[in-house]
Amino acid sequence: NDAAGNLERVVLSGPESASVEIYVYGATVTSWKSGTGAERLFVSRQAVLDGSKPIRGGIPLVFPQFGPGALPQHGFARNQRWTFLGATEHGAGVAATFELRDSEETRGSAWPFRFVLTYTVDLTAHTLSTIMKCENADERAFEFTALMHTYLGVGSIAQVEVEGLEGAEYDDKISGQVGVKEARARVTVGTNEDRVYRDVEDNVVVRERGGGAVAIRRFNFKDIVLWNPWEQKAREMADFADDEYHRMVCVEAGTVASSIALRPGQTISCGQLLTAEDVPAAAAA
Ligand code: BG6
Repeated sequence: NDAAGNLERVVLSGPESASVEIYVYGATVTSWKSGTGAERLFVSRQAVLDGSKPIRGGIPLVFPQFGPGALPQHGFARNQRWTFLGATEHGAGVAATFELRDSEETRGSAWPFRFVLTYTVDLTAHTLSTIMKCENADERAFEFTALMHTYLGVGSIAQVEVEGLEGAEYDDKISGQVGVKEARARVTVGTNEDRVYRDVEDNVVVRERGGGAVAIRRFNFKDIVLWNPWEQKAREMADFADDEYHRMVCVEAGTVASSIALRPGQTISCGQLLTAEDVPAAAAA
């Protein structure tokens, strides 16, 4: 809480040494420790945490627009203060729920609709699920794109392999090529990457050779975005330290190559389940 007593963030402790921290600003998850106590997410040491710009790291929510467009980059959800509705313990762990509704500000934007977003962050010993429910509370149909911009923390990007993308087509935002078929079973990252893999069928696993892994299962989300700014773009970002691109990779679950349409009164829930696969004790020994 800040000096005025306003709620700034919610911290939940789960089974074993699992925990999660969520800022009400953007409902941005800024820390996820799995049962072993290992931090799974990356947040830049230069991230701005005072609510003056989106948080560089963790899991910012992209809604209702992915990328550039009529709205500011990645939409407005990541820089609105959400309302914390409460937290509950359940048999396997603990969950917190946040809400964002349309406001004068959002209604005055290029996406002027009435909506209710309900975001549930659920922690168990080895999983974190982030599920966003969107309700169309308007009298008009609307469309949106949405994404969970997950920054995974890694020991070294050189050891990272992303599984589950083979055969999927991607649009490469760096080269401008569209509809390229991914031939690799294990995708590695060694340069500035910015790719939208469309209609990915399989679950994606981000594995570090000699280290742990995080599996990403999607729920009503079609696409996977893979992003690493690499050296030069890292230098251009004020809220990202120059050497940090070695320590992170963004593997982002969303529907961004197409859009989600809701008629008045309709709702959809979409999100991801992250599962930490730790180094087996035998391998680590
Ligand atoms: C990724 C986009 O999802 O987010 C990239 O594909 C973008 O193009 C990156 O650079 C970071 O965006 P931002 O607005 O947080 O700097």
